Amino acid sequence: MEQELQSLETEARQNLQSLDDKSLLEDFRVRFLGRKGKFSTIMRQLGTVPAEDRPRVGQLANSIKAEIEKLFEAKQQLLEASPDGSRSHTGPDLTLPGRYPAPGKLHPISQVMNETCAIFENLGFSVAEGPDIELDYYNFEALNIPAHHPARDMHDTFYVSDSVLLRTHTSPMQARIMEAQQPPLRVIAPGKVYRCDSDITHTPMFHQVEGFLVDKNVSFADLKGVLTVFTQKMFKKDLPLRFRPSFFPFTEPSAEVDIACVMCDGAGCRVCKKTGWLEILGSGMIDPEVFKMVGYDPEVYSGFAFGLGIERIAMLKYGIDDIRLFYENDQRFLAQF
Ligand code: PHE
Repeated sequence: MEQELQSLETEARQNLQSLDDKSLLEDFRVRFLGRKGKFSTIMRQLGTVPAEDRPRVGQLANSIKAEIEKLFEAKQQLLEASPDGSRSHTGPDLTLPGRYPAPGKLHPISQVMNETCAIFENLGFSVAEGPDIELDYYNFEALNIPAHHPARDMHDTFYVSDSVLLRTHTSPMQARIMEAQQPPLRVIAPGKVYRCDSDITHTPMFHQVEGFLVDKNVSFADLKGVLTVFTQKMFKKDLPLRFRPSFFPFTEPSAEVDIACVMCDGAGCRVCKKTGWLEILGSGMIDPEVFKMVGYDPEVYSGFAFGLGIERIAMLKYGIDDIRLFYENDQRFLAQF
């Protein structure tokens, strides 16, 4: 009988909980608390309980009945308080959690850009910024790329007019700074660059960090040293680097630097176009012709320069296989960084 009383309490509780209409209250009362209701039915067995247990069971029965009555009255009050007898609210629900404004954070490209600059600043480079809308002179001429030079074809340039364009690389900053300052120079120039190109590894706007160092007795070994330190710090491990002979009109000799593809560990995949390597920068020793154009004596000074692709580095660092994700502004993507 004790068990029956206890399960009656549970049943009554559940019934009351889901009861959400005033018109059902009376039905509940009759079913559970009425003279022929469930409680009375159980109580009729009290006579069969052994005499010594009777006081305890009786007490339990009383407290359970009181509990059900209390819950019933509370429910009655609640339903009677709302005008249509249903549980709809008349005011705001103060128990709902608040809505927080989503905190903003830096775009992954800005994060990698800042990190890159910090690494070079720690190596003693200073930071300079130049215009996105650039003169043909600084983007090409001053970098030993005269009009009609075939190297111009590589750049897929957006022209504003015959002599004005969107810079296709950050290298014009080499010419601008060298023209205005004397060696020794250790400079990085971060910024946006533009090329008419779009696929899974190219977007029409992307970011580069130009770096250059000019002094007496600068050698290719200095370039290798600086870039090795950079990749170690950026990827926090000893990644294989590959210097591949290349050509840029403003450096001689020139090299493109590849990093082992971390997406496939060098096995070859869609991102590294099955080569196992990903190009992250172009570099070389500054061409004597460039020095002459800015009025430096190439017999006295030498220097190296490099141009890093920030999107490439971010893709490698975070294992992203499509560059366009950076510019779709999908919160589900951005919130991960
Ligand atoms: N400006 C070159 C590019 O965008 C990279 C580069 C920079 C190469 C400096 C050599 C020296 O491809």
